Amino acid sequence: MAIEPFRPAPSETAYWLEHRDGSTPSSTILHPSFLTLVSPGDLYLDVGCGYGRITHQLEKRGAKTAGIDLNFKELRLGHQSSPNVLFVQAYGEQIPFQNEQFDGAVMLGVLGAVGIEARRKIFAATVKTLKPGGLLYVAEFAMIYDPAVTTRLDNVPWTDVYRRDNQVTGEYGSVVVHNNDGSTHFVGHHFTYDEFLFLFRGAGVAPIASERVAVQSNVSGATRDTWTMWGHKAR
Ligand SMILES: C[S@@+](CC[C@H](N)C(=O)[O-])C[C@H]1O[C@@H](n2cnc3c(N)ncnc32)[C@H](O)[C@@H]1O
Repeated sequence: MAIEPFRPAPSETAYWLEHRDGSTPSSTILHPSFLTLVSPGDLYLDVGCGYGRITHQLEKRGAKTAGIDLNFKELRLGHQSSPNVLFVQAYGEQIPFQNEQFDGAVMLGVLGAVGIEARRKIFAATVKTLKPGGLLYVAEFAMIYDPAVTTRLDNVPWTDVYRRDNQVTGEYGSVVVHNNDGSTHFVGHHFTYDEFLFLFRGAGVAPIASERVAVQSNVSGATRDTWTMWGHKAR
């Protein structure tokens, strides 16, 4: 049976295809406690790997690593700095690897880079690639509850942005950035802890740890809270 190639709407991918030369925004981190669980020889998948910032860290731990992303220019850069990593141009919604193949998978800044439907598909497709008992690690920007915390460019409380953009995306915590002509440039999502739990448990991944970690955004320079969570796929 022929498999239909997956193609998301261009509006969902245009922003991510703009980046080159390592300019892909990438501020979330692999938690040091998670890294200790990565053993030499483990087979790892980095979903939405960009230019391989995190893929490279897994490789340094001795893992045999593959990274997928839709941005070929950034993948090529990754290949130049980590030639032993297998970089493949693919969508997270349709991962071109066999089921139950990987000991671990990581997704940093990817689920918040897509809409809710794509998020569910990418999460499910990633979990499918894990062996029973395999490890999954996810990191995303955390939702901001404090109205005193404002956006850097126009000084609007994030809570107001969430309320406003909820009317467009139907999802509280999502942020829409517009082009000058009013068209959508970028849609992102900031997560609650419960949203992470819902995704993990819904896909049969039992969390073993979660931490709120402050990082410096490599886009705005501001300090921002992120959620990290990792756990095992059911055996
Ligand atoms: C915030 S960046 C994070 C990059 C990388 N994970 C890191 O932390 O350095 C999000 C990445 O997800 C990729 N991406 C967005 N939508 C995707 C999709 N549907 N399938 C695969 N990759 C996607 C983008 O091209 C981009 O490289």
